[in-house]
Amino acid sequence: MCGIVGYIGEQQALPILLEGLKRLEYRGYDSAGVAVLSGAVPKVVKTRGRLQHLEEKLAGEDCPGTVGIGHTRWATHGHPSDANAHPHTDCTGRFVVIHNGIIENFLSLKEQLIASGHTFRSETDTEVIPHLLETYYQGDLVEAVRKVAGQLQGAYALAVICQDEPDKIVAVRKASPLIIGLGEGENFLASDIPALLKYTRRVLVVEDGELAVLTRQGVTLQTLDGRPVARQVLEVTWDAGQAEKGGYAHFMLKEIHEQPRAIADTLRGRIHPDGRQVVLPELGLTPEEARRLSKIAIVACGTAAYAGLVGKYLIENLAGIPVEWDIASEYRYRDPFVDDRTLFVAVSQSGETIDTLAALREARSRGARVLTITNVVGSTLARESDWALYTWAGPEIAVASTKAYTTQIVVLALLAVWLGQVTGRLQPEAAAEILAALRALPEQVETVLHQEPAVAEAATRLARHDDVFFIGRHLDYAVALEGQLKLKEISYIHAEAYPAGELKHGTLALITDGVPVVAVNTQEALKEKTISNIQEVRARGAHVIGLALAGDEETARHCHEVFYVPRTVRWLAPVLAVVPLQLLAYYAAVARGHDVDKPRNLAKSVTVE
Ligand code: M6R
Repeated sequence: MCGIVGYIGEQQALPILLEGLKRLEYRGYDSAGVAVLSGAVPKVVKTRGRLQHLEEKLAGEDCPGTVGIGHTRWATHGHPSDANAHPHTDCTGRFVVIHNGIIENFLSLKEQLIASGHTFRSETDTEVIPHLLETYYQGDLVEAVRKVAGQLQGAYALAVICQDEPDKIVAVRKASPLIIGLGEGENFLASDIPALLKYTRRVLVVEDGELAVLTRQGVTLQTLDGRPVARQVLEVTWDAGQAEKGGYAHFMLKEIHEQPRAIADTLRGRIHPDGRQVVLPELGLTPEEARRLSKIAIVACGTAAYAGLVGKYLIENLAGIPVEWDIASEYRYRDPFVDDRTLFVAVSQSGETIDTLAALREARSRGARVLTITNVVGSTLARESDWALYTWAGPEIAVASTKAYTTQIVVLALLAVWLGQVTGRLQPEAAAEILAALRALPEQVETVLHQEPAVAEAATRLARHDDVFFIGRHLDYAVALEGQLKLKEISYIHAEAYPAGELKHGTLALITDGVPVVAVNTQEALKEKTISNIQEVRARGAHVIGLALAGDEETARHCHEVFYVPRTVRWLAPVLAVVPLQLLAYYAAVARGHDVDKPRNLAKSVTVE
């Protein structure tokens, strides 16, 4: 996820671009850059680091000009660096491009371009675009952009300026957000509304497969095959704060709703078009090395650890490799057995959590190969690992992790399928079924989100209690752990998760009249067992909120209220089951009047032991 802005008008472009980028920094902040059309060639200034670094760099520069584009980056391809920062240019410097999204087929395009003499200066997927423009341009920028878009697979919102046609910006969208702001004698583009609110409230939303041409006089929209598009102008009534959160009351709620997109982005390019193979070129482990592994250690903290627990169950079952699962702060102190046949897997949204890093260093020093699953390209964990697999969730602002958790499970599932295939334990048909189910997840998460009003009501009732228990078996237990953490960290309600069969070994003493128990029951093979445990708590007076598979009337009959998740392969049910629990926690916290995005005593990134 990155932020893009563009301006064409009579005012100086630079301050408008910088102001817009400031409002988009929530979309990415590892590097930033601008390009302004002034003089002979477009002037490009870009740098690694936050926008403030760019402003410092620009302080010594002269950047006059009334047409420009700007970018704030959240790295996907290529670590954060000056060279990888946008904008990117072709060999001549005439074509300048900013891009939000992922070009899946960039490697093959890059090879072809290099073979025909182009020189690349970055590791990004984006840089193929200006070089392709250089190849296709024959005096008509719109035509060239159209041809280039026809070559690109993946997701993009991109904007192009060209020295040869200095009175226009051409932008195009496929799957990444793009809006146009309409002014008087000036027009704007951006990834999101906050970037434009200071200048205009009249907005056009560009749809997938559409191309926009911005001049000072106006904006035209057309399809990629050149048919004109008429679009109604939207009058934005949000204030700046609301706009930054996409109209949601909190970042957490926005991020819960971003999950379909985040999952789709995380999967992009990682399933072969034949639907039967996982494509993970970032993972340098060879199939022979994978077959030699004696065990895998998954180590993480908090939510990331609970995603890791799902990963343990998946890898053990699909690949037949033993997996140890540890909370990072405990790992070092148990003197773990590690050797060169151990694959250590760190899971971390931020890539900076000190306990996870310390565990990684410990495992490394004992000879393990190290893989990190993280959301932040170039983070310390990624840098200190042999390989990194990224979740492409985009920045997660709310302290309570949501989209990071579901995308971590998606990456762990891809890893499990890959390992299952190379070890030969997972049959091709079974692999294809899981991969198809992965592809269906974004739409299924949308379906779960439709239950939001009902979950919100249940949460308002839950908010009156001081203790809540979560139960489940196997993968449902892993989800229960995440559900209880979500609830306690933002609503401050005491919550505990138990394997459903474990309550009777002590904790059942705490179940009395009206105590809420959230029972996760999405694993068909364990359904009856969990129903027995539901009956146990009901017999002691518990109020049971069930989470069941669509159509599971049996579980519903034993609960006081129930939320459903669509059916999927058993391995992926946690991705769907966690969504109502995230909403339950969110609305309970709102009902209690808490600062949802910044819960007391907590920080987004924990860099102390
Ligand atoms: O950045 P990390 O994923 O390594 O952070 C680990 C935990 O601190 C984190 O998952 C925490 O538990 C969540 N923010 C809770 O929602």
